[in-house]
Amino acid sequence: MCGIVGYVGHRDCLPILIEGLKRLEYRGYDSAGVALHGDGALQVVKAAGKIRQLEAKLLEHPVKGRFGIAHTRWATHGEPNDTNAHPHTDEARQVALVHNGIIENFATLKSALIAEGHVFTTDTDTEVLAHLIEKYLKRGSKLERAVGAALRDVEGTYGLVVMCATEPGVLVGARNGSPMVLGIADGEYYLASDVAAIIEHTRQVIYLDDGEMAVLSPDGFHTATISHELVEKAVHDVDWDLSQIEKSGYEHFMLKEIMEQPDAVRNASRGRILLEEGLARLGGLNLNDEQLRDIRRIIILGCGTSWHAGLIGEYMLEEFARIPVEVEYASEFRYRNPVLDEGTLVLVISQSGETIDTLAAMREARRRGARVLGVVNVVGSTIARESDGGVYIHAGPEIGVASTKAFTSQVTVLALLTLLLGRVRGLSRDYGIEIARELHALPGKIEKALQARDAVRRIAELYGRHDNFIYLGRGFHFPVALEGALKLKEISYIHAEGYPAAEMKHGPIALIDENMPVVFICTRDSAYEKVMSNMMEVRARKGRIIAVATEGDHEVQTRADHVLYVPATIPMLQPILSVIPLQLLAYDIAVARGCDVDQPRNLAKSVTVE
Ligand code: G6P
Repeated sequence: MCGIVGYVGHRDCLPILIEGLKRLEYRGYDSAGVALHGDGALQVVKAAGKIRQLEAKLLEHPVKGRFGIAHTRWATHGEPNDTNAHPHTDEARQVALVHNGIIENFATLKSALIAEGHVFTTDTDTEVLAHLIEKYLKRGSKLERAVGAALRDVEGTYGLVVMCATEPGVLVGARNGSPMVLGIADGEYYLASDVAAIIEHTRQVIYLDDGEMAVLSPDGFHTATISHELVEKAVHDVDWDLSQIEKSGYEHFMLKEIMEQPDAVRNASRGRILLEEGLARLGGLNLNDEQLRDIRRIIILGCGTSWHAGLIGEYMLEEFARIPVEVEYASEFRYRNPVLDEGTLVLVISQSGETIDTLAAMREARRRGARVLGVVNVVGSTIARESDGGVYIHAGPEIGVASTKAFTSQVTVLALLTLLLGRVRGLSRDYGIEIARELHALPGKIEKALQARDAVRRIAELYGRHDNFIYLGRGFHFPVALEGALKLKEISYIHAEGYPAAEMKHGPIALIDENMPVVFICTRDSAYEKVMSNMMEVRARKGRIIAVATEGDHEVQTRADHVLYVPATIPMLQPILSVIPLQLLAYDIAVARGCDVDQPRNLAKSVTVE
């Protein structure tokens, strides 16, 4: 959601903090700020807006120091203005801190602190932490102890980093429900909410767990619980590098990530397809064949695009593994009273591995005794670490807020899982081989699907000024219709609805006239004729039709105003190809409308608040 970076070392830290913030800006971009320890005091500069606004302010108010913290914010409590931006301080500016998450009991804590004479200046929940820590410092505690004491008073979630005026060079980081990673370099130490902020400087990291703190100084670091019991933590080696989080000549991360999909899908299935046997190998599931056969029901949980991938998974798993599947919004699942038994497998899908609703739903499922597998992109993320097993999608870092390559990689992994489960539950070897071959051929076919770019651009020019769109598909393509509509609304702010094509007659058809572009996904599969009939219904009402169709299908041209072609594959994998022109369409329309593609308004890449 928001982004945090902190530094302790021998270099002037402002450029390091600003660079780190820029790498985190995709996480939140309402306001930003820094606090540095220099000239014996804490110097704080904050600004509403993007990091460039903070940079401009820093030119007027230069700060210097070797220890500092920084934050980029996605507002929860308090509007995004200069005052509410982080870092937050107490009134005497003895403590400065940056915080991701929500302090749920902030109102109670705030009243008690006001009664004790503290003066608050912001509308945020975070400010109570600064006052609380200062209160414990005043009682004679060192910063580490004061932070521990304050956190034991707090209910809610946090990933935070704190510094104080009286202990130059000491940074205390802590986590509860919001990620915090410690980076180790030569005589330099970092704290960040995301590895991306520090990957330029080190690949050696420690992931804090909930209820843990890291205490950094120029001489070293230690890790402990917030009750001050020392904890030994493993040092991990990050397996990607800076080039993967740079734009590499592309205008936007989203376009780069769309174009990376042949490689992303190749990586998602690398070493996992057994072509000769028509099988899939997924090492991290921690389930043997007998346990796979014993699964009686699957519940898939996710949010946003990950939920759409889950819907495609439902169709695949039911058809080929013959297991009943339900797909639920994680946010709804956790507040119901779901029925789970030991025959239920819960599959949790999340690109970031940190989405709070998904994480909470997963914890609830585990608490009720279900076995939970994660389908996650970010290695070492909380969902990956807390699940009983799982499959990394290996899509590489995804920076664009609108998810693209993670979606196609998630669907690829769900197809591998379908193949694996299907084969132990009676799917024929011959069909297994066909699925395996088609999976293997996907990257080349995605390359071809990406060639629709020029045709997409022309359509974007024609329809970019429309205010509404409808997306229609059936079977495996109903979730693709939802995903196409989501992409468009996320980044171009056009109202778009995805619907099952046949369901259109029960409502959306009333919206159709000559001003309504309707995107049909109508590749050659068992629903083709039916979808073509739905197209006629739209045409009869003068709707403008954009069709995504199978290469070589000329019939569709007689019904649609525009056709975008994708190569053919087996129906269960077709969504991975048919979503590509829809991603490009959303991208090109957003660019044509002058929208901020990588950082669309009000959204955040990883939603770590409920
Ligand atoms: C946010 C992002 C979406 C993403 C969703 C779920 O809303 O903007 O792109 O699909 O969160 O995120 P996850 O990381 O759990 O897949």
